[in-house]
Amino acid sequence: MKFFIDTADLDEIRDLAATGLLDGVTTNPSLIAKSGRDMLEVIREICDVVPGDVSAEVTAMDYHNMVREGQRLANIADNVVVKVPLTMDGLKACRTLSNEGTKVNVTLCFSAAQALLAAKAGATYISPFVGRLDDIGTPGMQLIEDIVDIYLNYPDLETEVLVASIRSPMHLVDAAKVGAHVATLPPSVLRQLFSHPLTDKGLADFMADWEKTGQSIMDAGGQDAASESTG
Ligand code: G3P
Repeated sequence: MKFFIDTADLDEIRDLAATGLLDGVTTNPSLIAKSGRDMLEVIREICDVVPGDVSAEVTAMDYHNMVREGQRLANIADNVVVKVPLTMDGLKACRTLSNEGTKVNVTLCFSAAQALLAAKAGATYISPFVGRLDDIGTPGMQLIEDIVDIYLNYPDLETEVLVASIRSPMHLVDAAKVGAHVATLPPSVLRQLFSHPLTDKGLADFMADWEKTGQSIMDAGGQDAASESTG
């Protein structure tokens, strides 16, 4: 499963990219607004930091201007993925951009039928929003499972399921259980994945016992260590 982070915050991106666990980044107009920066500049910088796919979203509502904006965004760097909304114009733009060799992420997907349309339009990624469905009392993860199942019925479809609007580690685990290809995580949720109270407790116990030995791995070994250092 690929891990993307859902942010336009360069400090977060740099920090988390250093873990070696990041496969890509997703942004949207709200995240760009939150960064307070020029969109093209931010996308260019993100593409320099993360070699994987970086989604940049068009803001036009009509086909013609979506394609123009998509082409401009795609020219920023080789790893830009153009994000378009799941509307009729968005899917027309998806087909055109995809025919030109540009990767496209179709966003704001809330039904399996929409996901099937996006795959037929040549989307590289479909982004169903789990958290926002949960918010209105509809089980978001059921949609992920349905889309994964439907795509599996048609092996010619190459679209990957990119689970968006993830709010907790549980969303990620459930998405992995049903076989989603990608999860895009808010930085805070990605950080949460590393922690477990039993890991902290176990480590504290090990360190307390180790302290009692008075040893240091770099100084241990006596004669062996001396011969290692002289070759
Ligand atoms: O990038 C879109 C998506 O991940 C938004 O998440 O939490 O605003 O529903 P959220």
